[in-house]
Amino acid sequence: MKSLAEKIAPDTIKKLIPYQSARRIGGNGHLWLNANELESSCRYEGQQGDYQRYPDFLPDQLASAYLKYCQTHTEVIGCNAVAVRGADEAIDLLVRTFCQPSVDKIMVCPPTYAMYEFCADSIAAETIKVPLLPSFQLDMAAINAQLDDVNILFLCTPNNPTGNIISQADIISLLEFAKDKALVVVDEAYIEFAPQTTVVGLIKQYPNLVVIRTLSKAFGLASIRCGFLLADESVMDLVTRLIAPYPIADPTAEVALAALTEKGIKQMNAQTDELITVREWFAGELNQLEIVEQVFCSSTNFVLVKFNTPTCMYQYLCSKGIITRNQVHEPALSNCVRITIGSKDSMSETLLALKEMEAEKI
Ligand SMILES: Cc1ncc(COP(=O)(O)O)c(C=O)c1O
Repeated sequence: MKSLAEKIAPDTIKKLIPYQSARRIGGNGHLWLNANELESSCRYEGQQGDYQRYPDFLPDQLASAYLKYCQTHTEVIGCNAVAVRGADEAIDLLVRTFCQPSVDKIMVCPPTYAMYEFCADSIAAETIKVPLLPSFQLDMAAINAQLDDVNILFLCTPNNPTGNIISQADIISLLEFAKDKALVVVDEAYIEFAPQTTVVGLIKQYPNLVVIRTLSKAFGLASIRCGFLLADESVMDLVTRLIAPYPIADPTAEVALAALTEKGIKQMNAQTDELITVREWFAGELNQLEIVEQVFCSSTNFVLVKFNTPTCMYQYLCSKGIITRNQVHEPALSNCVRITIGSKDSMSETLLALKEMEAEKI
């Protein structure tokens, strides 16, 4: 029987023969003269390793290390992992693999991460928007009513920029409903801040579920550009036809593998706990300010704050050298600013700037 992935993927993708890079073709020789690399090379100043060879086309060791890490929170069976250049590349790959340009559609639930729509726009795929309810939960009836028309539904939990967890019961109900209709892609970029809420363990039961992860957030490795796509084999088979010939650079794989050791995961957990302590303290302090209308409950490394001032708080904070993320473009988030949680010193400085403003009644 045809998988959903096969059913919805455009013919061009199904017919695509993966690019035969030298590493993909492989071989068993002792002289490797097939990729126009240098056999040996000088080391430039400060360079630690040797990098003259192309990396693996799909670094298995990294994918296995990531799957093992996933097992720490939930049983993960029947699920495949592939490393990509950040969660952003995973989003782009999914859109290009499962949407025919100018024909197919995706669905998003704003306010949410803007890349889903951006990637769809880049191939002229239409984005159907079903806004979150005022509680920032899914509008199930409205989603269900339009699910027939889309190839991919993108959900984000914990959600950026609202910071809340999307109900797992709702996600499961959508997975059921979308079984023969659409892929449900759950972006878990911030999952380490609420690890028990992951849906990755549901992939075996729902081959239409795809989970996106990243090392950019809780692991603190945004600059190495490493993320993961977790999915059923039927999804992976198609996605890996389109993936770049060498998606992960060797220095990236080295750092990522170190982060995914038992010691690395322990370090990440400790820094996550510390960050959560600062977040909760900062949110509590914000709640005391008269200029703050609401601090939304967060399960991430940021807080969404609604101010009640006529002044644009984003601009005010910019004038103090504090750069936050303005949310005025979101109809549901007027007067809201998203503030990333930094060190206690950084958050104290931010609080001080806000208190000064309150005192001066700017
Ligand atoms: C929800 C969400 N998904 C994905 C990303 C991108 O992550 P990466 O750095 O792995 O590309 C971000 C970055 O802010 C994000 O907030």
